[in-house]
Amino acid sequence: MKKHILVIPGDGIGPEVTTWGKAVLEQIATSFNHEFTYDEALMGHAAIEATGNPLPDETLEKAKKSDAILFGAVGHAKYDNDPSLKVRPEQGLLKIRKELGLYANLRPILLFDELLNASSIKASILKGTDILFFRELTGDVYFGEKLRSEDRHTASDLMIYHKYEVERIAHKAYEAAMQRGRKLCSVDKANVLESSRLWRETVQEIAKQYPEVETTHMFVDNAAMQLIKDPKQFDVVLTANLFGDILTDEASQIAGSMGMLASASVGDGTGFFEPIHGSAHDITGKNLANPLASILSVALMLEISFGLKEEAELIISAIDQVLKEGFRTGDIADDTTSPYKVLGTEEMGKLVLKFITQKTYTN
Ligand code: IPM
Ligand code: MG
Repeated sequence: MKKHILVIPGDGIGPEVTTWGKAVLEQIATSFNHEFTYDEALMGHAAIEATGNPLPDETLEKAKKSDAILFGAVGHAKYDNDPSLKVRPEQGLLKIRKELGLYANLRPILLFDELLNASSIKASILKGTDILFFRELTGDVYFGEKLRSEDRHTASDLMIYHKYEVERIAHKAYEAAMQRGRKLCSVDKANVLESSRLWRETVQEIAKQYPEVETTHMFVDNAAMQLIKDPKQFDVVLTANLFGDILTDEASQIAGSMGMLASASVGDGTGFFEPIHGSAHDITGKNLANPLASILSVALMLEISFGLKEEAELIISAIDQVLKEGFRTGDIADDTTSPYKVLGTEEMGKLVLKFITQKTYTN
């Protein structure tokens, strides 16, 4: 198979982890005789420094021409502590999501059994959890009108949804539920918000087209609690942009660490694959970041954008083997991890590559 992939390393630990995502793509191409070509582009703080623009036109053009995009992270501490800065790295990410029509963000909470003790939640509560979040990604308070009064003492962000935006992501979530456990929980705040009442009404209508799927509705505050109390009750979770942003960071603790969670953003055009973690400036350049979320993002790319299921499964089984043999990065190490088996970014990346190669020839 021939594919052209755009790599956008971004900021902070983005470049370090993306190096290993790309190395895995290269290994898969060799092992399975695919022809993957690559290009690279700037986004976020790195792009602001080079061009003044968090999403240069050139990046967008390259993105539109590629078959899939592998992205690292955006953000820089200097912006976090200065809300007055008008040009911000995150604007690049939001703009590319909107421009590419990436309205559905899939965030699988993939829990490796070996990491049951890496979470701060009890293993007995976690075991068997397998959740797929569908976070709406191009609407909501993220993209609604933003206002600031002249005296600057009042500010607002419009939380807005159109029916078609809810319909299209609901269909995607239901289609996935049909292939999984046939349960879908739609999360909103319909007891307070008008946009959530539109959300709920619309999901109720779409639900009728999928009678095999058991649909439930939950308020977001309750969902935040239920995720920790009894995560196994969820199969597919469908929710709005802001609620999904918050709930998936929470849910990452089920998988042991943010460093384990990958995401796929899909919609009208080219698919976009990225770890859910941020730029983590505190550990940048120290060989401490966990590359597994980037590597798992590559597995999602192969499966979702290219339909290469066998290749995706091989990557997951290589990661499984690394973990079974006791190797961890610092974020997923627990009290039982041997200090000799706590690896840096590079060592972890190399080990995954080694197991992918071995598994290719023993299959
Ligand atoms: C995410 C991130 C982004 C978001 C930021 C970096 C703009 O937190 O992808 O979850 O809020 O969507
Ligand atoms: Mg987030």
